[in-house]
Amino acid sequence: MTKIYNFSAGPAVLPKPALERAQAEMLDWHGSGMSVMEMSHRGKEFMSILEKTETDLRALLAIPNDYKVLFLQGGAIAENAMIPLNLLNGASADYAITGGWSKRSVEDARAYGTINIATNTEAENFTHVPDFATWQLNKDAAYLHICTNETLQGVEFFGDQGLALPNTHGVPIVADMSSHILSRKIDVSQYGVIYGGAQKNIGPAGLCIVIVREDLLGFASKLTPAVFNWKVQAENQSMINTPATYSIYIAGLVFEWLLAQGGVEAIEKVNIAKAKLLYDYIDSTDFYINKVAVKNRSRMNIPFFLKDESRNEAFLKGAEAKGLLQLKGHRSVGGMRASIYNAMPIEGVQALVAYMQNFETNGT
Ligand SMILES: Cc1ncc(COP(=O)(O)O)c(C=O)c1O
Repeated sequence: MTKIYNFSAGPAVLPKPALERAQAEMLDWHGSGMSVMEMSHRGKEFMSILEKTETDLRALLAIPNDYKVLFLQGGAIAENAMIPLNLLNGASADYAITGGWSKRSVEDARAYGTINIATNTEAENFTHVPDFATWQLNKDAAYLHICTNETLQGVEFFGDQGLALPNTHGVPIVADMSSHILSRKIDVSQYGVIYGGAQKNIGPAGLCIVIVREDLLGFASKLTPAVFNWKVQAENQSMINTPATYSIYIAGLVFEWLLAQGGVEAIEKVNIAKAKLLYDYIDSTDFYINKVAVKNRSRMNIPFFLKDESRNEAFLKGAEAKGLLQLKGHRSVGGMRASIYNAMPIEGVQALVAYMQNFETNGT
């Protein structure tokens, strides 16, 4: 059988060892006689899973003690509304628009208060992160919202020393990291809030992880539903409602796998190598094009276009026949997109590059 490599942007490929563990434990988790799906979320078995999952995530990201970790439902889009509800508190907020997802965050937030646009690259088709010196930041803003990796356009925040951030003079930064969380080292203490939908580097869709600095809890508008009130959830171990137990369990298995790989620092090296392989090839030929400024090219989501777009269908069909799946670009962007999250082995990228070379030379 052809080896399958899944380049979907999300839900996306998960580490095989984690899925195999889930398979082995499906009917009987650790001799409990129950599947994790069947357990009470408040029982000692599931509580031990939740606690280990949080402990491992804290270790992976070196999350400081004054941050709470919440396991919420509704994905990242639900949080787009919960962020202003939990933080605005009558003030305004700054938003940077650097791609489709941060644009969406603005649309979702506008209903709740005054939103100022710090920067917007839509006119340049979302191909870079502008120099921070040009951003219009308000010192009285309740927060600055950014999306540090734009999944659709493949634009990532980078600086000389890893992930660079604007100087907000104390205004908390709220970052949507859905599509690159755990792919690289970050300094959590530079953020007020980090959030991410699970279905890329974490686990199954639906679960959303929110990492929030404790001093930002307690500003929620009275309109905030209890399930989305971060303070209430933090005080109740994310159990004001029944949490997405199975998704949390799978996330825990993925975290264990990542720790066994050597953690975020080790996977970052692999991610750099994988992305370099693909970008180097794209840059070596006129046949394929990536339009993102080199300094902001995402390591996780790599959009590319054929110079001759009339061959898109043939490219995708040929890729599928070789087991290279879900390479079609997002409908708002077109072309192709290879999402190469943590669980994509380098062999998958090698197979993609080999196919791209063949397609260029032989048309198959
Ligand atoms: C950066 C980013 N933000 C937000 C979302 C929306 O996530 P969800 O559909 O889980 O709400 C996505 C989904 O792909 C994403 O990539």
